[in-house]
This record gives sequence, structure tokens and C-alpha cells, in this order.
Amino acid sequence: MHNKVRVAIAGVGNCASALVQGTLYYDRLHHSGFHNDGTSGSNDRLHYNRHVEKGRQGTSDLKRGNEISNKVRVSRSGNADLAADANSSAKVNANVNATTDKDKDTVTDAHRDRDRDRDGSNSILEAPGLVTYNLGGIEPSDIEFVAAFDVVESKVGKDLAEAIFASPNNTIKICDVDKTGIKVEKGEVLDGVGKHLNQRVKISDKSPPKISQILKDSGAEILINYLPVGSRQATKYYVEQCLDAGVSFINAIPVFIASTPKWQQAFAGRNLACAGDDVMSQLGATVLHKTLVKLFVDRGVKIDETYQLNVGGDMDFYNMLDEERLEDKRISKTSAVAAMAPYEIPMRIGPSDFVGFLDNDKICYINMRGKYFGNVPIELDIKLKVVDAYNSAGVMIDAIRGTKIAIDRGTNGPLESVSAYCFKHPPVQMSYSDAKTRFMEFIEGKIER
Ligand SMILES: NC(=O)c1ccc[n+]([C@@H]2O[C@H](COP(=O)([O-])OP(=O)(O)OC[C@H]3O[C@@H](n4cnc5c(N)ncnc54)[C@H](O)[C@@H]3O)[C@@H](O)[C@H]2O)c1
Repeated sequence: MHNKVRVAIAGVGNCASALVQGTLYYDRLHHSGFHNDGTSGSNDRLHYNRHVEKGRQGTSDLKRGNEISNKVRVSRSGNADLAADANSSAKVNANVNATTDKDKDTVTDAHRDRDRDRDGSNSILEAPGLVTYNLGGIEPSDIEFVAAFDVVESKVGKDLAEAIFASPNNTIKICDVDKTGIKVEKGEVLDGVGKHLNQRVKISDKSPPKISQILKDSGAEILINYLPVGSRQATKYYVEQCLDAGVSFINAIPVFIASTPKWQQAFAGRNLACAGDDVMSQLGATVLHKTLVKLFVDRGVKIDETYQLNVGGDMDFYNMLDEERLEDKRISKTSAVAAMAPYEIPMRIGPSDFVGFLDNDKICYINMRGKYFGNVPIELDIKLKVVDAYNSAGVMIDAIRGTKIAIDRGTNGPLESVSAYCFKHPPVQMSYSDAKTRFMEFIEGKIER
């Protein structure tokens, strides 16, 4: 049997949407036959991925509420259909009864997958954005969403499958999501909805149920915190509900929990794990900026100053117009970059503006100035454009799997390697490559945390 992991979500925004869709997307892709031993079918797989890319750039079909031109459907009869649109010749049918076979997979298979992935080729071709498709015996489809909480009228009371596409969410859609049977429950609002969000959403007038009881009843093992930036009180509220319910915690946002001794001890004292804080996207502004600073330092360039500007058009960016909610976000992003240099660099890093028509696209500009050989000036300007929510979804799938492995091993308290690899403000800051090495050593059981 596969190792299932039961996950609850606080905050059903764009990130939750990308995470839920992402787990299904890879499962269906896997069972469509594109994922096999890597010996055949790989051309089809690449063809499919290229087609998706073409769809991304060429049309506005990808905006919320519309389907990607090439989509994965699973019919009631149990046949997975990877069907291209009318313009495409690509069509692959696969029997999802493979699920039965999949369930017979063992951890040994996982190790074989992992070993095959030592050069990175397995995950890049078969599951871009994940360290590997099968991590320590856990595949993306082994993540089961068992509870969800939000506070806005458009989402509370809806099935999770519906709520992830409800306004004001505006990320792209990569696959259909069948009803989950999970109703989004009303959470405690507290400071979750700031003065800007308040103008855009209507808070549900339902009374919040006892969150810790719902967590217990759902059998959740992990709660993911996806609240808006600046939700300090609300985050602490959900942390306390987890401690009460015996649920481990993954903190995707810049409120300091996994990196704060008080909360680390609280989780350890309840024999629970915590990982965080503030998810670091797969190829986002932070990992790029960190890596560039490390490169400059390693190559002997003295960095004089650097800035990182970010704009986007989703509710995350709208909320972050409120500078008062940004303190922790700036600390988180700045500390990740600053840690890569052995000297202090003047830097300004953070969210910069809201540009509504960008939807969930995020654009980042990084500028670095310094001196190299002979004290001669050097300047670098880079622009990065991504769909923000999907940039963190794969990292969260890895964080969930790493945390589940810790839970199963009885490792409690802060998960240092999982946090250093997946988050911007971890208990222990590391370079990207060190963090990945430590993360894989942890998965393999070579280090405790
Ligand atoms: N790549 C990324 O997208 C990325 C990277 C790093 C960090 N993050 C952080 O992850 C978080 C989620 O991002 P997002 O894009 O999904 O944001 P979002 O604004 O789309 O979603 C936040 C959700 O939380 C809900 N909410 C507000 N108060 C609540 C409460 N008290 N209880 C329950 N739900 C509540 C909102 O209604 C909304 O649905 C943000 O803090 C963001 O900064 C995202």
C-alpha cells in the first residue's frame, strides 16, 4: 500500500487551487502512460508538455474559469483520457485500473525511482517541480485533502473542488477537479482579511465551527497555512487548533512559527512536527536572487547594492498593498538573500505594486551592482515572469511528503532540512544546493531532521 497523507488547508486561495489541481494533474499524467520506466513514451510526454506550453502563451483561455486547451479527464468508467483539443492530434487513453497496481508498489519502488533520479532526469521529465515523483513511498496522489477553511462567502460552504475556482481566485486551470466531498468550513476571521481585501470580498456570515474538532474528526495529519500575508493572529489561532487537535503544521506564509523557538517547542511538546516559514517557490524571485548573490560572492564580485521588485494582479498582491502587513514578508525575503553573503549588502526586497490585469502572473525584477577585477563596475538586470501559485505548488507537495515522513518516523518539532529546502525563512538558513542535499539525506533517513 502507498503511504497516504491526510491534509487540511487554511485559506482556499490561488495557492490551494494550484496544490489541489497539481496533485490530480500529476496523478492523471502518471496514469496516462507518460510515466513509465522512462524507456518508452517519453516523446509523447514531451509532446504533451510542449502543447501545454503553446497553449499558455498563445491564448487567454488559460485565465480562471477556462480550461487549458489540452486537458486530462477521468471518466466515471475509470478510463483516464488525455485528450487534446480539436487542433491537436495527441490523444492517449490509459486504464486507471493501474491504480490497483500502483497500490501494490512498495517503498523499494520508491527507492528505485529515487536512485534513478540521482541525476535529476527522472523528475525533470516526469514531474517537473517535484524532487521526484515518488518520494519515500509517497506520490502526489497520496495526498488526500480532508478539510478546508476559508472566510469569504464565495467559498465557505462550497465543495473544495468548487471553492478553488471561486472568485476572487484567478490562477489558471490545469485540470478538471471532480467533487471532493470536502465542504469548506468557515474559519475565524481575526486579522486574516485586511483593509484592502475587505473591499474586494464579502465575509461569510456563517458562525465558525470548532476548528480543532473538525481537524480531529477529519483525521487530518497536517494543516497547511495559506492565509494572506500579515495574518499573525489568525495564523496563531490555527496553530493552537493544530496543537489541540494533534495535527502537524506547514506554514506557507511569512508569519514566524517553524522558525520561532516558542512554537517549535510547542509542537515538539505535543509530539508534532512543524515546517516553514513562507514557502520558497520552485523558480521564484527568492531562490533566483539567493543563487545570484551566492554566484557573485563565489566568483569574487563585491556586491555594492541590490534590489528586487515584484508585481502581480491577484489578491495576494492586493493585500500586500498594505505596507503594515508586510513587515514579516520583507524580513523573510530579505533574510533569505542576505544569508548568502558574508558581508552586509544594502538591499531593498519585497512586493512592490498591484497590477490587476496580470491576474496570477507575477513579474519580478532583480538588479545587482558591484565591482569585479580591478574594481571595475558590473551590473545585472533580470526579469522573471511566472504564474505565481503553480510556482509554489510542487514545493508544497514535497514539503507535505517530507513532513509526513517525519511524522511516520516520530520526528517532532521543527523540520530543519524540509524547511531549508522548501521555505524562505526556515529555522536554519542554507544555500539552495546544501538545502537540497540535506532534504534528500533526510528522506533517505541519513539525518534525523
Ligand atoms: N508562489 C506563491 O504563490 C507564494 C509564495 C510564497 C508565499 N505565498 C503565500 O501563501 C499565501 C497564500 O497565497 P494565495 O496566493 O493563495 O493567496 P490568496 O489571497 O489567493 O488566498 C488566501 C485565502 O485565505 C483566505 N482567508 C483569509 N483569512 C482567513 C482566515 N482567517 N481563515 C481562513 N481563510 C482565510 C482568503 O479568503 C483567501 O481565500 C499568501 O500569504 C502568500 O503570500 C505564496
